[in-house]
Amino acid sequence: MKIAVSAFAGLVCTLGLVSAVHGQDARSLEKRSTSILTNPPGLPRLPSPDAAHAAAASAGLNLTNIQGDIVIGQSKRHETFLFFSIVDATSFKSKLRRKILPLVTNAGQMLKNETQPNTLVNIAFSQTGLTALGITDNLNDTAFHAGQLANAQTLGDPRTTHWVPAFTTGKIHGVFLLASDTTAHVDATLKTVTTALGASIKQAYSLQAAARPGNQEGHEHFGFLDGISNPAIQGFDDTPLPGQASVPTGEILLGEQNDNQIRPDWAKDGSFLVFRQLQQLVPEFHKYLTDNPIVEPHLTRAQGADLLGARMIGRWPSGAPVFLSPLADDPKLGADVHRNNNFTYAAPNNATLCPFNAHIRKNRPRADLGTDAKNPHHIVRGSIPYGPEVTPGEASSQTTRVERGMAFVAYQSNIVAGFQFLQQTWLNNPNFFIKNTTGFDPVVGANHGAARWSEGNLDPTNPTRNFTLVNDFVISRGGEYFFSPSLSAIADKLSA
Ligand code: HEM
Ligand SMILES: *[C@@H]1O[C@H](CO)[C@@H](O)[C@H](O)[C@H]1NC(C)=O
Ligand SMILES: *[C@@H]1O[C@H](CO)[C@@H](O)[C@H](O)[C@H]1NC(C)=O
Ligand SMILES: *[C@@H]1O[C@H](CO)[C@@H](O)[C@H](O)[C@H]1NC(C)=O
Ligand SMILES: *[C@@H]1O[C@H](CO)[C@@H](O)[C@H](O)[C@H]1NC(C)=O
Ligand SMILES: *[C@@H]1O[C@H](CO)[C@@H](O)[C@H](O)[C@H]1NC(C)=O
Ligand SMILES: *[C@@H]1O[C@H](CO)[C@@H](O)[C@H](O)[C@H]1NC(C)=O
Ligand SMILES: *[C@@H]1O[C@H](CO)[C@@H](O)[C@H](O)[C@H]1NC(C)=O
Repeated sequence: MKIAVSAFAGLVCTLGLVSAVHGQDARSLEKRSTSILTNPPGLPRLPSPDAAHAAAASAGLNLTNIQGDIVIGQSKRHETFLFFSIVDATSFKSKLRRKILPLVTNAGQMLKNETQPNTLVNIAFSQTGLTALGITDNLNDTAFHAGQLANAQTLGDPRTTHWVPAFTTGKIHGVFLLASDTTAHVDATLKTVTTALGASIKQAYSLQAAARPGNQEGHEHFGFLDGISNPAIQGFDDTPLPGQASVPTGEILLGEQNDNQIRPDWAKDGSFLVFRQLQQLVPEFHKYLTDNPIVEPHLTRAQGADLLGARMIGRWPSGAPVFLSPLADDPKLGADVHRNNNFTYAAPNNATLCPFNAHIRKNRPRADLGTDAKNPHHIVRGSIPYGPEVTPGEASSQTTRVERGMAFVAYQSNIVAGFQFLQQTWLNNPNFFIKNTTGFDPVVGANHGAARWSEGNLDPTNPTRNFTLVNDFVISRGGEYFFSPSLSAIADKLSA
């Protein structure tokens, strides 16, 4: 009964109807009046339903066919990642079709509070997962095909020393992403999903994640507002904010404009999902800043420490970019979505305002590359923090005792040109860019566990000061590469 009704959900185009019959909501038939997403100041909002539908119509994009997490960015409050192995493919396919597909949340649904489900449900498959389902088509992405384990060296990880064991087995076939405003919703949906699939899957690993509390909502664990600069996907959001990248649909979704690889038809409107569990050594990061402040006559020692941290990221904790606010945070600027991303690194095109190797400049060099339109290396991030706040004991001992970090999620149509390129060729490469020897990304750059350095960029008062970062502040606990298929691919290919 419930299933018969909700099996319709993915097929109904009218958004109001979708929510009324969608998944768990079918029980109460109540529409939501609030959003399951967070909306901290400084992060871009989703386009209005009218704007998104107009953009989709002009690009010929079917938002009902695209999984919701691909477009919503870094605005989740609670999220559980459930990694699983497929034990019985035949049984799994039938359950996927009858019980899971009706729960899968599409992009169109996320645009209005009323049409959102109580829990977003998305599903994605690794290459070994597709193989387990008997799919032999080549998705034509060598990184996806090989899996993340094979990529550990390329990504600069110190082998798999710190990897979560489940990610080293190559046996994670898929992942469920379950996101909501409350853990009660997430947990209830987790139960619905695992009960529905029964013995057809085996749970391999799970990670619970949540936005940080209070005024840190939207900030990652080092304290910086995150998710400000995600690209606007053409066909979903055609009115980018000042400074926001506007990317061709096919840079994120397979088979769409500007995706120049040959793909099987059913892969259209899917996206590669990179998952990385990135542990953050928060007290150690702050100790480093405190021990190595930038010394400036107008700044106290504490302000000099804050300045060093801001220059490592390229933004202040509020999100204000150092390029626009070079010496102190400016919370008004950080909270203003029309101003907080409106810069290019041109004039002066040097490291005075923002270091060449700042995290955001390495990841998206803007005018350093000419124009952003020439940059084919955009990703849409959908990450969320995991783990508890720093305890008083950790703060006073300046030592991490409990794991916390970022459940890093990135979507792109090409992992080799997207995440892998950013990590390997830009973040981990001290010779990128403009000038040789600018140094590693001091926060996320990796050197196989060996020391990383930063030459003459971080300290604006002392251009030749060479920072040597003996220990990593971010430790890769591994992950996997997945493919987040369209709803029609789930119906017609993956469950058939
Ligand atoms: C724990 C690890 C990480 C932390 C703490 C972190 C933190 C941040 C922060 C605070 C921002 C600025 C806010 C914003 O623009 O959204 C940012 C931006 C960004 N990060 Fe990360 N990040 C991490 C890992 C990564 C990784 C692994 C990648 C890719 C390989 C990445 C790619 C980006 C990109 C593309 C941007 C936006 C740059 C721009 O458009 O200007 N980040 N990150
Ligand atoms: C859009 O996608 C949904 C879900 O796969 C499908 O039911 C619907 O027919 C599609 N609409 C169009 C116009 O192709
Ligand atoms: C959606 O819910 C959020 C709170 O979660 C609220 O701030 C916002 O005004 C609501 N939007 C509409 C259009 O009602
Ligand atoms: C992948 O796409 C490229 C570019 O279109 C093409 O040259 C290559 O043959 C494709 N490979 C496969 C296995 O389809
Ligand atoms: C964005 O920056 C440009 C150039 O610096 C400026 O002319 C424009 O007014 C800024 N836009 C906003 C909304 O502040
Ligand atoms: C950066 O450029 C500005 C403007 O041209 C100049 O005043 C400044 O000295 C330059 N800084 C460095 C380190 O070259
Ligand atoms: C950077 O190094 C490469 C060789 O490693 C050299 O060809 C290039 O000219 C150098 N660029 C600058 C700006 O020094
Ligand atoms: C900076 O330090 C690193 C090692 O700590 C070293 O390899 C590099 O040559 C140094 N750079 C300069 C300009 O001294």
